[in-house]
Amino acid sequence: MYPVIAIDGPSASGKGTIASRVANALGWAYLDSGALYRVSALYAKQNGVDISDEKSVSQLVRNMPVSFLDGQVRLNNQDVSLDIRREEIGMLASRIAALPEVRQALLQLQRDFAVKSPVVADGRDMASVVFPEAQLKVFLQADAHIRALRRAKQLGLASDEEQFEKILHDIEKRDYADYNRAVSPLVKVESAYTLDTSNITIEEAVKKVIEWYQQVKK
Ligand code: C5P
Repeated sequence: MYPVIAIDGPSASGKGTIASRVANALGWAYLDSGALYRVSALYAKQNGVDISDEKSVSQLVRNMPVSFLDGQVRLNNQDVSLDIRREEIGMLASRIAALPEVRQALLQLQRDFAVKSPVVADGRDMASVVFPEAQLKVFLQADAHIRALRRAKQLGLASDEEQFEKILHDIEKRDYADYNRAVSPLVKVESAYTLDTSNITIEEAVKKVIEWYQQVKK
């Protein structure tokens, strides 16, 4: 196995941006494990599979024609990178992610990334389940209001108070589901470094993670 930096944290904590920039800076691969759960949800929806039918969803996911190419997420060779970012798909992904057989089906797919090259992986259980041997484990935190504001800006809805309240509500709902589910809940493992991104820039966060990696690899 190649070296791994595992970055976990709640929705909109900056994981994706920080992890992909760290990967870029180090010349490593980037695994967006949330995208795997999202694409699984989209695939189940496209195939009309009942999201609560664990057996059928896990079987479907096991043979999912997914690939990650040039920063794109591809399903059946179609670029679905934007489709999977929809809030509806995020919610479905969160439900699918609570099914143990689905998590099991996606486990090897994720571990295979580190068989091919060093990898920066982001998600909810990178340090606790998928890469417990990771060289560096980072747990990201950020205030829920700040995360909702970031998401609203991303969606171009920063000045709409009603939309903001809805985004905040969705983030809190997803946090609750991710922290409280029975299998692989979002958790900070003891050996993880905590990084609160509420009041720092992306550049500062990236710099910190790389600094920590330089320290631990010695
Ligand atoms: O990180 P992102 O918001 O794209 O993840 C979508 C959903 O997938 C999360 O709400 C979470 O429930 C699930 N997920 C997970 N384990 C991971 C990554 C994501 O359960 N490693």
